[in-house]
Amino acid sequence: MSSHSYTPRLTLHELRRLAAARKLAMLTCYDAAFAATLDAAGVDMILIGDSLGMVVQGHDSTLPVTVADVAYHTACVARGAARPWIVADMPFGSFQASPGQAYANAVTLMQAGSQMVKVEGGAEMAPTVEFLVGRGIPVCAHIGLTPQHVNVFGGYRVQGRDAGAAERLLDAAQRLQDAGASMMVIEAVPEPLARRIAESVALITIGIGASVACTAQVLVLHDLLGAGVGKRPRFVKNFLQGAASLEAAVSAYVEDVRAGRFPGPEQVYAETAGG
Ligand code: KIV
Repeated sequence: MSSHSYTPRLTLHELRRLAAARKLAMLTCYDAAFAATLDAAGVDMILIGDSLGMVVQGHDSTLPVTVADVAYHTACVARGAARPWIVADMPFGSFQASPGQAYANAVTLMQAGSQMVKVEGGAEMAPTVEFLVGRGIPVCAHIGLTPQHVNVFGGYRVQGRDAGAAERLLDAAQRLQDAGASMMVIEAVPEPLARRIAESVALITIGIGASVACTAQVLVLHDLLGAGVGKRPRFVKNFLQGAASLEAAVSAYVEDVRAGRFPGPEQVYAETAGG
């Protein structure tokens, strides 16, 4: 018999049970060593985000990222982290053409080591979500500032500022939930709208520049560690400042999320333009 201690991976069922008692902490990650650090610090969920195109590969958007890129980093992370639930991002062009295209590429990511895939987009993605979930692939939706739409949005801009856009996001959240999504990232929308969305659905909501009312929070790991150059979005906080180690920085984030201290008012967007 092996003497290795075995840490079972969190399941959707256990995440829902945990979420009834406290907030969940999620971070992006792209390699095994950081994955082990996140696991040791108590992170509940890891996202292999297509943000890897920017923070790992040095592109100026997420658009060049391929399924093979995400699969490679997913396999690295899955080997490094035993307990966290692992979500792989479906990159630009890998799921929008048809539910069948999405299924084929999602299978590649699940076989690389994820337990769930994430798809960006609004109500138009509901048929794809239903198709994937019906075939055994849990889905995390992603609404609001969906970076794969940067060229349509005209930059990385807060979404849902006017009444029409807010109604479309509320409607999308409902439709994606009805289609079977069990989690939903809400990115860069005004706090009162993010709160309304989070309170209008029963699935696990994951905020980033959204609201502390979400069930969970996510940040890009490099942002949490203050790595990289250029203008940082409002929702970023450097947890390495004042921390004694990488693990201590990640633990501080986990503790702040669990306690509902992150995001604070300075990391969310006010209702009015320019907030
Ligand atoms: O790609 C990514 O890292 C993401 C998160 C910021 C939610 O989509």
